[in-house]
Amino acid sequence: MRSLLLFLAKRENFKNVILRYKIFRDTVWRFVAGETLQDAMRAVSEANSQGIRATLDLLGENTSSREDARNASRKVLDMLATMKVEGADCNVSVKLTQLGLDLDNEFCYSNLREIVDHARELANFVRVDMEGSAYTQRTVDMVLRLRKEFDNVGAVIQAYLYRSETDVQTLLAARTRIRLCKGAYLEPESVAFKKKTDTDANFVRLMKILLDSGIYHGIGTHDVTMIAATKPHAAEQGIPLSHFEFQMLYGVRRDLQLALAREGYNMRVYVPYGRAWYSYFMRRLAERPANLFFILRNLFRG
Ligand code: FDA
Repeated sequence: MRSLLLFLAKRENFKNVILRYKIFRDTVWRFVAGETLQDAMRAVSEANSQGIRATLDLLGENTSSREDARNASRKVLDMLATMKVEGADCNVSVKLTQLGLDLDNEFCYSNLREIVDHARELANFVRVDMEGSAYTQRTVDMVLRLRKEFDNVGAVIQAYLYRSETDVQTLLAARTRIRLCKGAYLEPESVAFKKKTDTDANFVRLMKILLDSGIYHGIGTHDVTMIAATKPHAAEQGIPLSHFEFQMLYGVRRDLQLALAREGYNMRVYVPYGRAWYSYFMRRLAERPANLFFILRNLFRG
């Protein structure tokens, strides 16, 4: 089921099937904060009022024209300015294929550099999301290139990839802030663990390396077992709660997000918004097929 949903995530035509059913359309808004920046800022403000920080993601990936990539870059620049004006406790997450990585490496780099530069002026931070494994090396390289010039840019590492421990060491050598997550794409066995137990074991191994590094990182998971491994490790190593944060996705385990914030952990929610929600939504369904079964049950009832 996971593989099928991740396969469909790459097939935009399937979006029309989804749009036909109200229950599908309604479920999209559980995971996506809305279509406009205003919608997203409302979600950020609500999170902030509960002691939860945010990171904003303008949805969209694999942009196929320079114009679309430039438009996306401009919107991210506007997003940063709006956060400043509204005093939001929020940074931004970007995807390199949205900024033109499929078109031209240098063009993408200049779009990203402009965003990171603007964020620095506004004392903000840019997280470069990690996409499918075809982009891993270029993404790591681009973050490292920017790290020579900027402090306010960080990377994402996926625990399901065999290569991740090496990437972690390379990024840490450049004192790069990392978000650790399990990984959300359909990957072949030649590059990624297939068994959840292997990915989880690697996640715990990498989490310990990150926390022990003395750099501020994000532990991105809703998995209570991963969270339960992180808390005692930090306590045993005497790592203050202010030295790392947990991160979760908008609409997922809101109860746990609040509970961690109340316990005194730094908590950040990833808030996606925009019209290009299709691939993001399908990856969220793939992570928890129970979400799909819930939709189907209601579909056949109605
Ligand atoms: P796991 O998938 O094992 O789920 C554990 C439990 O969490 C489930 O049993 C369920 O209770 C709950 N849960 C998880 N996903 C759910 C969902 N969609 N709906 C409802 N409940 C759910 N990936 C990537 O490849 N590149 C990236 O840049 C990012 N960025 C990112 C940012 C942040 C802040 C987070 C939290 C995650 C990402 N991801 C990501 C996604 C990540 O790789 C992974 O697919 C999801 O977080 C799901 O993995 P878990 O660690 O939650 O564990």
